[in-house]
Amino acid sequence: MPDVELERREGSLTRLNGAAYRLSATADVILFRTTPGEDLDLEAIRTLHKSPERTASLIALTAPDLPLAEARRIIQAGVTDVLPWDTDADELRQHLDRWRKPKLPALYEAPQHRRGKVVTVAQARGGIGASTLAVNLADRLMDRRGLRKVARNRVVVLDLDLQFGSVSSLLDVKENEALYQMATDGTVPDATFVNHALASTPQGLWVLGAPSRFAPLEVLTAVQVGALVDALSDQFDYVVIDLPRSLVLWISAVLERTDRLMLVTDCTVPSVRQSRRLLDLYLENNPALHVEVVMSQEHKPLVRGSHHREAAKLLERPFTHWLPFDPRAVRKASDRGLPLSAAAGSSPLSKSIAALGRDTLAALMRNEPAHARRH
Ligand SMILES: Nc1ncnc2c1ncn2[C@@H]1O[C@H](COP(=O)(O)OP(=O)(O)OP(=O)(O)O)[C@@H](O)[C@H]1O
Ligand SMILES: [Mg+2]
Repeated sequence: MPDVELERREGSLTRLNGAAYRLSATADVILFRTTPGEDLDLEAIRTLHKSPERTASLIALTAPDLPLAEARRIIQAGVTDVLPWDTDADELRQHLDRWRKPKLPALYEAPQHRRGKVVTVAQARGGIGASTLAVNLADRLMDRRGLRKVARNRVVVLDLDLQFGSVSSLLDVKENEALYQMATDGTVPDATFVNHALASTPQGLWVLGAPSRFAPLEVLTAVQVGALVDALSDQFDYVVIDLPRSLVLWISAVLERTDRLMLVTDCTVPSVRQSRRLLDLYLENNPALHVEVVMSQEHKPLVRGSHHREAAKLLERPFTHWLPFDPRAVRKASDRGLPLSAAAGSSPLSKSIAALGRDTLAALMRNEPAHARRH
């Protein structure tokens, strides 16, 4: 048969054991010969039939004079069809298309819908570079490759800094009133809401920006914000969230859904102390939260000073990510409403964020499946 690849294996289904299991996850059809009264084979059929990875239809070839009761036992164990082993090739060919569309095993449940990963950016003090990081990290998480720079991931930035959000202006997209509506009408967002609210950049990054009007932060609820993050992570591979600096109750809904939190700080004593306070608060209800401390607007020192060591000790985390002070690059990017990769790709800051993006992608891929949340 021209469009059929055939692989032969010697031995009974039971003796093939692991090999049969692997085959059932790759082949379309497994034809196997079985003898009446082979209880072990029935057991093997049941196991294969229930395997969630199974793609193959199981077809039993048996003695032509197999009693009906035996055929029923085999079918009940989970085979799609029972045929006499002297069936000729023409007849097999006729059945093949039907068998190739395997029925799902009875106990099979569709795998749970995999949600995109959530990366949240928080700041130890105002103006530390959190929004700059959120936007440019999101840009790097798109993981563009090849000559044509095709993005491998769909990424959205959600600006939850409702009152002072700067994501829309950093990326030169129109401000959006959806979050204002959410705050004032009590709307619980769903996929349709989100689709209306999204804007995109020419580079293919998606944005759900803060409103142009002053929206009261505290009136949003954890249910609304949780639904918003869920709706976005249903549609995107990565959701990057820019948090407001003020501590509002609904932040818990974001933290619960966060796979990686980037706490942006510098090494000054007030910022480190504030970072410690924030960490205590974030971790109190989410002890498993993964936090990365990002030192912003500071060059990575060749030799760590004692204040670096003190700070790392206080935060109980090594400082692995340093974003250099690079006013030229940020100016070039923000003046043109472009991510650093497009406006100042070879600048030190752009390169540091690229490295942070690569580390984040690698770490989040290692973390599969997504953290235990919601389901
Ligand atoms: N690495 C950097 N080097 C130099 N300037 C920077 C750097 N990162 C950010 N800036 C500048 O610092 C200012 C604040 O940056 P940004 O808005 O990203 O910080 P933020 O922590 O989000 O501030 P806010 O408290 O307003 O939300 C901006 O003018 C930005 O251009
Ligand atoms: Mg900001």
